[in-house]
Amino acid sequence: MEPASRQRLRIVMPTPLDQLREEHDLARRALGVLKRVAEHVACGDPFPTTDTATLLRFFHEFVEGVHHAKEADHLFPALALHSDDTVAEAVGLLFGEHDDTRGLLHSLMMFWEPVDDLVPAERDGFAQTARTYAQRLDRHMEIEEQALFGPARHSIPADDRITLMERFEELDRERRGARYWRPIVAELETRWSA
Ligand SMILES: [Fe+2]
Repeated sequence: MEPASRQRLRIVMPTPLDQLREEHDLARRALGVLKRVAEHVACGDPFPTTDTATLLRFFHEFVEGVHHAKEADHLFPALALHSDDTVAEAVGLLFGEHDDTRGLLHSLMMFWEPVDDLVPAERDGFAQTARTYAQRLDRHMEIEEQALFGPARHSIPADDRITLMERFEELDRERRGARYWRPIVAELETRWSA
């Protein structure tokens, strides 16, 4: 029987996969705001320059710069090393999807300028690209959770999971992690709630 102190430790210690899931939840909340901003812009309402800039910064600095870096630089290599061919194949596919979503995000950033408003064709382009980005990133996170996070829980040895957690904490310290972005996303959600 496991000692009570260790049981408590196991319950309160977050795992790298728990952390990645929590980051997915934060990204989904920001995608919800992005979709509402896209509808607003598509309807011809004034372009919300400041909130769009904050959202794009979140996706660029946090989703690309922190979350995808944790997966691509640390989780995916560990999984490729310790898992079977099916998981290794999924890792290859998901690497490619990171490139796709990064490309879409860059397209989206091209529309954003500190200007008063966009012309109709730019509005349509922004709204369509935002919807496509949201759809792809949503689906990508779902595939990761189903195809990778489950197998990773069993295949990555405990020592490697500890190393992963240390690398994740380093990235959070060097860049702006979820703790920095959570209140910002909550504020955007409040402003853009239906
Ligand atoms: Fe992810």
